[in-house]
Order: sequence, then structure tokens, then C-alpha cells
Amino acid sequence: MSYRTCTCGALRATHLDSRPILCGWVDSRRDHGGVIFVDLRDSEGVTQIVFRPEENHALAKLAHSLRSEDVIRISGRVARRLSGTENTRLATGEIEVVGSTLEILNRAEVLPFPLNSEISNEDLRLSHRYLDLRRPSMVRNLRLRHRLQQTTRAYMDEQGFLEVETPILGKSTPEGAREFLVPSRTYPGHFYALAQSPQQYKQLLMAGGIEKYFQIAKCFRDEDPRADRLMELTQVDIEASFFKSEDIFVLIEGLIGRIFQDTLGLRIPTQFPRLTYQEAMERFGSDKPDTRFEVELIGIGEIFRSTEFKVFRGALDNGGCVKAINAKGFAHITTGQIEELTQIARQYGAKGLAFIKVENGEWKSPIVKFFTAEEKKALTARLNIEEGDLILFGADKWAIVCEVLGRIRVRVAELLKLVTDATRLDFLWVVDFPLLAFSEEAGKWGAVHHPFTRPKTEDLPLLDAGKFDQVRAEAYDLVLNGVEIGGGSIRIHEQELQARIFETLGIGPEKQSLLFGHLLRAFQFGTPPHGGIALGVDRLMMLLCGTANIRDVIAFPKSSRGQDLLFFSPSEVEAHQLRELSIQLTRKS
Ligand code: AMO
Ligand code: AMP
Repeated sequence: MSYRTCTCGALRATHLDSRPILCGWVDSRRDHGGVIFVDLRDSEGVTQIVFRPEENHALAKLAHSLRSEDVIRISGRVARRLSGTENTRLATGEIEVVGSTLEILNRAEVLPFPLNSEISNEDLRLSHRYLDLRRPSMVRNLRLRHRLQQTTRAYMDEQGFLEVETPILGKSTPEGAREFLVPSRTYPGHFYALAQSPQQYKQLLMAGGIEKYFQIAKCFRDEDPRADRLMELTQVDIEASFFKSEDIFVLIEGLIGRIFQDTLGLRIPTQFPRLTYQEAMERFGSDKPDTRFEVELIGIGEIFRSTEFKVFRGALDNGGCVKAINAKGFAHITTGQIEELTQIARQYGAKGLAFIKVENGEWKSPIVKFFTAEEKKALTARLNIEEGDLILFGADKWAIVCEVLGRIRVRVAELLKLVTDATRLDFLWVVDFPLLAFSEEAGKWGAVHHPFTRPKTEDLPLLDAGKFDQVRAEAYDLVLNGVEIGGGSIRIHEQELQARIFETLGIGPEKQSLLFGHLLRAFQFGTPPHGGIALGVDRLMMLLCGTANIRDVIAFPKSSRGQDLLFFSPSEVEAHQLRELSIQLTRKS
């Protein structure tokens, strides 16, 4: 006989007097003067079981001994609940099963944490993840994730894309992130690298004539985990031949639309607005702007071109800029909050954070004494300054001012709770990223996206002229509510151009053939023009599930310190394992 005849979510009033067999976990057990009520739970729902001592004393006694999370099998008869005791919150709430047999399949000890309330100790949850996964919020998240993946596969299949698996054990090449290295046993002193993304493989698939590829791919990056940054992440990875940026946008807008429809039943716009990188930085101080609130960065350099205030004047004279944001109605900001914002400003490179509070018709500020009446008037008009406002200033190099005020803007919005509609979804494409950025730390130019990204054709002369900071890339990011949920580009497909970019990045001919010979060779054998994108599934899931914790959308995540608390990994290994790999430890923790 089977374990069960139906699930705990199945029974209704139409099943009265039927005799089901159910299996599941004891969600709760209540004793009402000897009558034992058990809420029996499985992955499909909850059914109330009742054991009455007057019908079967021994059985009721056994049921009395049940504890939360014991696994049991019961049989019984479906009965209507007494009038007034129905539970409208349960799909099975009209009925109960009067138990006639009870089999205990496995006992559960007292749990380390209750499953029916929020637990703040995340390490405790992670070290018993299998218990944590039984909680309804986790079940919901994994279901949504499943739905996202099924929908993605169905949609991409409809669009004619082929799902192709690419290796996890790849080669160490400088693509962007730090890689995990895997020592080779057969080739002592040699290493594989875990794929930080399928980037080069998918381009080689284009060289292979596959034309339309996708994969729900695992990627590995040896980064310090952060709020939205994982070491082990999942991407919907896509690449297509004979595609322009425009084709990628249409494809992805369709995919995201289907995902929101199928997971949350939401209709979203069929086209997302676009913003150039330059405009995103100028107006929002971020390449992933949150446009759900209005506070914007406003340039005020021309007003203060010949100001007495040396902080503004100094920045302008040095080729920098002065910008401000008007935090409307925030003049009541506390000293502690001003201090916090100033700390943020310092953290991102500013020397300070000048401000003006407008209270009782007066400008309260340590800096207004330096302003002329004309400057004040122009500032009032430009920023629409009114009673109750708080004005915050940045004066420095353009990039610093944008980043600092961009961060401040987001924090101000949090403090003022400017996002009033929690269901609002602001999608946008950020386009025309710079191709290259100079790293002061490394003392050389680096790729903003990755080294395979194509410069905009109209900017090629700038590349020739060595004006590297002005060259724009055929690259785009997808942003949702201030989170970068995807990024991609049209690629270089010509050997000569790719070699030139490598050269610019400080990778000379010898290193090129050592590290990227496979790609450069492929480009010499008729690789078609191509481009693609990767969506960050974990980040998208966070937004779909409405959680601020990225680990809540993953079944077995590493902890915030990069450990697997279930397995206690990373762990030490046996000496013979290291010997096999020709590895000698110089340091032991
Ligand atoms: P990129 O590195 O921008 O591009 O990654 C694409 C998207 O993946 C997500 N993502 C991450 N999510 C969580 N933790 C991380 N550490 C992490 N890193 C990235 C983001 C990001 O937008 N090969 C290219 C794509 C391409 O050019 O086609 C790539 O990997 O949502
Ligand atoms: P100081 O003249 O250095 O005392 O600065 C006067 C005010 O300007 C203080 O409130 C500082 O926090 C602020 N300030 C200093 N440098 C900057 C800057 N680069 N951008 C914005 N505000 C600044």
C-alpha cells in the first residue's frame, strides 16, 4: 500500500466520509481536555487531525505524546468541523480528519528554534538549514525560484535559444573578478579556475555557429560576500549572433515580463526606459539609479564660478564640479543624522558635507556666510528652496561628487521613507557605459565591463587618439529599484580589435596568446558579430521575494562570512590529499 492517498492540502467538504491516509510533520499538537488536535503539514498544506479518547483511548494517548516536527502517518475519516470552528485561512479549513490509526515514522527532538516565527540569529538558521527550509517563507521563496527557472527555460526555448552547458572547471584568465583556483592532481603545479561566468565559452559557442545560446549557469567569484554579492551565484546567461543591443533589450523585456507574470501574476511595462551612464551619474549619482523617489543631483557650478567660499571655488578651479541635492522637508534632520551622512560622504572620498537647513525663514548653515545675496537668490531658484528644506552639497572631482551625493540621496530616501509604494517596480536600462576606467591602485586602464566588450563604433577614433576615458562601450545594465539585476554588451568579434584592447589593458602579445589564444584564434576563423547579457538570478529573486537578505532565496547559501555552516566548509583536509595535489601548506590557521 502507498504511504498516503492524498496530500495535506487536498481535502475539502466534498470529501466528507472518505477515508484518506495522510503523511507529514506535526505542525502543532493541542490538548483540549483529552481531545488531541494535530495540525498535520506537508509541502502542499495543512490538515487538522483529531483524536478523541472516547473513541480510542490508546490512540489518543499516543497522539498526546506527539511533538512538533515528528513525522507521522495517519488514517481516518473526513468529517465536517463543528460549526463555528472552521478555519477560513486554511484551504482545508472546513473539514478535519478523525484519526483511526497513527503511525510514528520518525521522532523529532526539541527544535533549536521555532519554525513559526522570525529568527534573528541567521547562523542558527544556516546550521540547521533543513529545518529552516520547512518554514513557509522559505518554501515560498524556493517555489518562486523554481517558477522563475521554468519560465525562463520555456520562454528562451520559444525564442529559439538552445540551452548549452559549459564547463565549471575552466582556465584562469583575467576577466574581472578574483577566481577560485582548483589544483590539478594530474598536472602538479597547474590549476583550473572555477568559471566566474561562462563568458568566453558562450562567445566560442557563437564561433561554433550555435547563434542563440542560454544557460542557467552557476558562477564562482572569490569575493568577500556582501549584502548583494555572493561567491557562488546563478545567472541566466545569454548570447546571440547577429544581435544588436536593441535585439537584446526586446528579448530581455519579454523575458522579465513573463517572469513577473508567472511568479507574482504582475503585469509590467513591455518597454523599459533608458538612461545613458552619463545622465544616470549626473542626475542620480549612480550607474544603477533608484528612480522610485525624485531627489536628484543638480549642478550649481555656474552659480559659484567666482564664489568666496573656498571649498566650492577650489573644486571648480581644479576642474571639478559642485552639485547639490534638495532633501525636501528634511530641515529637522538631527545632528546624529548629519554626522552619519557626513561619514558616508567621507567613506566615498569627499572631504566634508556642506549643508543648509531652512528653518523659520532662515538658512542655518556654517557656509552661508560666504555666499553673496545673488548667489543665494540663484541657488534658491535653481534648487527650488523652500521652508523646511535641507540642502546637501558636494564639491570635488566629478566622479567623487556624483558617487557621494548618489549614496547620500539613497540614504536620505531611506531616512525620509520616500518610497511609499512598496510594490512599485522601476525598471531601466543604463546604456553607453565607458569602455575603460583608469585604476589608480593598479596604475593602468581596466575594462569597466569586461575585456571582450565592444567600443561604440563612433568612438573608435577616440580609442585611436588614446582618449581612453572618453570611449563609450556598446554595453548595458538592467536596473530594478536601484539594483543591478543584469549586465551585458555587444562583443568584439575581430582578432585585431580584441588584441588592441588587450594591449590597452596592459596585456601584451605574449600574454595574450597564453591567456586568450583560444579566443583570438577563434576570431580568425569567421566568428560572427555577437552580443549577450547575464541576469543575476539571486538578485532578481530578492526583489521578487521582497527580501533584503540574498541568502533567503538560496537553499544552501554560504554564511555572510563565506562559510557553509551545515558542513563546516571550508575545512582542513588530510595530509595525503594535499600530497596527491603536490601542495605544501606554508601556513595553517
Ligand atoms: P556581470 O559580472 O555584470 O556580467 O554579472 C551579471 C549579473 O550577475 C549578477 N551578479 C551577482 N550577483 C550576486 N553576487 C555576485 N557576486 C554577482 N556578480 C554579478 C548581477 C549582474 O548584473 N559575463 C558577463 C555578462 C555578459 O557580458 O553577458 C557577466 O558575468 O545581477
Ligand atoms: P571647511 O571650510 O573645511 O571647514 O568646510 C566648510 C563646510 O564645507 C563643512 O561643513 C564641510 O563639511 C564642508 N565641505 C568641506 N569639503 C567639502 C566638499 N568637498 N564637498 C562638500 N562639502 C565640503
